[in-house]
Amino acid sequence: MTGQNPAPDEIVIDTGNPHPARMYDWFLGGKDNYPVDEEMGRQLLALDPRVPVMAKVNRAFMHRATRWLAMNGVRQFLDIGTGIPTEPNLHQIAQQVAPESRVVYCDNDPIVLAHAAALLRSTPEGVTEYVQADVRDPDTIVEQAGKVLDFSKPVALSLVALLHFVSDEDGAYELVDRLLAEVPSGSYLMLSHATADFTPKKSEEAGELYKARSLTLALRSRDEVARFFRDLELVEPGVEVPDKWRPELGEPVPGQDDEPIPGYAAVGRKP
Ligand SMILES: C[S@@+](CC[C@H](N)C(=O)[O-])C[C@H]1O[C@@H](n2cnc3c(N)ncnc32)[C@H](O)[C@@H]1O
Repeated sequence: MTGQNPAPDEIVIDTGNPHPARMYDWFLGGKDNYPVDEEMGRQLLALDPRVPVMAKVNRAFMHRATRWLAMNGVRQFLDIGTGIPTEPNLHQIAQQVAPESRVVYCDNDPIVLAHAAALLRSTPEGVTEYVQADVRDPDTIVEQAGKVLDFSKPVALSLVALLHFVSDEDGAYELVDRLLAEVPSGSYLMLSHATADFTPKKSEEAGELYKARSLTLALRSRDEVARFFRDLELVEPGVEVPDKWRPELGEPVPGQDDEPIPGYAAVGRKP
């Protein structure tokens, strides 16, 4: 791991407040969460019982988009907002297609760092690395990731289920532009993002739950999600609900009903 990451005995886990990475882990059926995370998870579940399905659908999008990128020649990935390791992780998908793939993971939650060993089991031909940093500090991410990734060659920037935790005031659009400015033509942006477009009332109540715990929930409309791709060429089918983004590339996701999953997903290429 990079020299800047805190040492294991310096990792401090805040068990008094819920954290997005740990709530997501709880929704996915993981064990790396605390009672505060479960408590808020249950409140969100009471608003919409489909949240665990949404988490699985989102994760399955990440798998398919990574597979598509690797199948289309991408060999370097910068995954920000990685989450607690859940198999298969991004590098396992990429390295299944191309064992030489190089992957840098990044998250700001110390619990992800505490479990990062699972992210570092690369193929011998490839490389994986973990950087503890906040996406709102792209300079540090670029500097640290640059020790492993060659920014003169295409990189897929993966921001899956991350940007709804970053408000416009915190520079969500600017930081994506800043990261994209660092990578050459032929690089990609892949992301998924929660929206209030389909379930405005439930989304508003979820927003209140986040706000009550001083957590950001910046739900964005389809146009607002598309804005992250305004200088890119969208890969077919464009900005779609996550389960409709190239479903043929992956495993079926069980438990869906007729109501759309309240999110969007897309992949775009830097011209
Ligand atoms: C919902 S999880 C998504 C995990 C994974 N990308 C996936 O889609 O399966 C969101 C992750 O973003 C991380 N995150 C939230 N805000 C962040 C920030 N400002 N900087 C870096 N990571 C952040 C959280 O710690 C969490 O691990």
